[in-house]
Amino acid sequence: MDDLIQKAAADLAQAKMVSALTGAGASIESGIPPFRGKGGLWEKYDPMEVAHIDSFIQDPVKVWNLLIKDMKDIVDQAQPNDCHKGLARLEELGKLQTIITQNIDGLHQMAGNTDVIEFHGTFAWQRCMECNTHIETRRVDISEIPPHCQCGGILRPNAVFFGELIPQEALWRSRQVATDSDVMLVIGTSAVVQPAALMPVVAKESGATVIEINPESTVLTNDISDYLIKGPAGDTINRIMADLDALL
Ligand code: APR
Repeated sequence: MDDLIQKAAADLAQAKMVSALTGAGASIESGIPPFRGKGGLWEKYDPMEVAHIDSFIQDPVKVWNLLIKDMKDIVDQAQPNDCHKGLARLEELGKLQTIITQNIDGLHQMAGNTDVIEFHGTFAWQRCMECNTHIETRRVDISEIPPHCQCGGILRPNAVFFGELIPQEALWRSRQVATDSDVMLVIGTSAVVQPAALMPVVAKESGATVIEINPESTVLTNDISDYLIKGPAGDTINRIMADLDALL
């Protein structure tokens, strides 16, 4: 594994345009559960029942009670872990331009990254379904479920539910970033949800080196990724950064 760590540091050192695609695995060490695999949210809930826009419109009380309240408690307390901090340092070194994240926890921005494409929106904000007013989730009073806007409209997360389109700007920019990258880090994603999982394919087809960081292999590992560094995101990023410091 050490040789792959050194290889990743060398690939980053000579890269001109680096991007990262992150998934729930990047935030697990901040206490935010993944969706799939051990302890995954979708082992507890059926995503079509609690995370589909039709379910939310049909029964916002159920979705707020089953999914959103728990998420709010977890995200409100979450802090950036070594993976987020390492990616922020990579940007400081001029060795990471853009993060495309599937996560809705805002931890990349909290760690200091300045160009973060929130592919699935963000949980840090709620918006009114009537007047579109945006309110920070931390400031929403959830003593009443579902919470309401001053106009009387119901508040919903500014995240993308299943059954909704990816924000066009996020989709367009992500494709552009993937096309322009000469290295893409793919960190903590099972790569089973489209079109996010297409971004490493676009990067690969455009000639990028795709470096996966995940304790397990994924659908990308054999066909798209140049190599998989098997390990947790925080420790792996720390080790790559240590080798990179010696090269810069
Ligand atoms: N470090 C890095 N990766 C990890 C770690 C860790 N410590 N622990 C687990 N993983 C990996 C798992 O092996 C898995 O491949 O993180 C991945 C988590 O996969 P998912 O839970 O499917 O999360 P993600 O890929 O982000 O899901 C994509 O699905 O439900 C939707 O909108 C939701 O954005 C989400 C999308």
